[in-house]
Amino acid sequence: MDNSRKDKMIAIGSDHGGYELKQAIMKHLEERNLAYKDYGCYNEASVDYPEYGKIVANAVADGTCDRGILICGTGIGISITANKVKGIRAALCTDCFMAEATRQHNDANILALGGRVVGVGLALKIVDTFLDTEFSDEERHIRRINMIEE
Ligand code: RB5
Repeated sequence: MDNSRKDKMIAIGSDHGGYELKQAIMKHLEERNLAYKDYGCYNEASVDYPEYGKIVANAVADGTCDRGILICGTGIGISITANKVKGIRAALCTDCFMAEATRQHNDANILALGGRVVGVGLALKIVDTFLDTEFSDEERHIRRINMIEE
């Protein structure tokens, strides 16, 4: 599904462990009138999370999308995969403090969630916090982010 109504594009993807939460997040993004591209998976059949981690990470890294949201059972495997792609800073968050801090300090460009870890209500608040928080732009944070890529 391609729900592209606004200029800021969000790439979203999951494996089967994150499928149900992905559906809830896409509904939430639609309610907020935020544009997204759904990179799968498209049902609850068992799939391999690296496939979806890579496709979403590449969409963010090559500029097709501005931000990404990735979900697997724990959020761990899919975030490890995404972080292998140059330019990607995927942050696995289990609360809003982490989502806010990773935007402000790490300029994280992908949010990773565990569909078997966080409930839907909390997950949607984490998504909102991640999408609505800007990078601090402070010199020390820019320096540290640059050091990641060195
Ligand atoms: C799939 O069962 C599960 O391993 C996956 O969703 C994820 O939790 C991996 O890190």
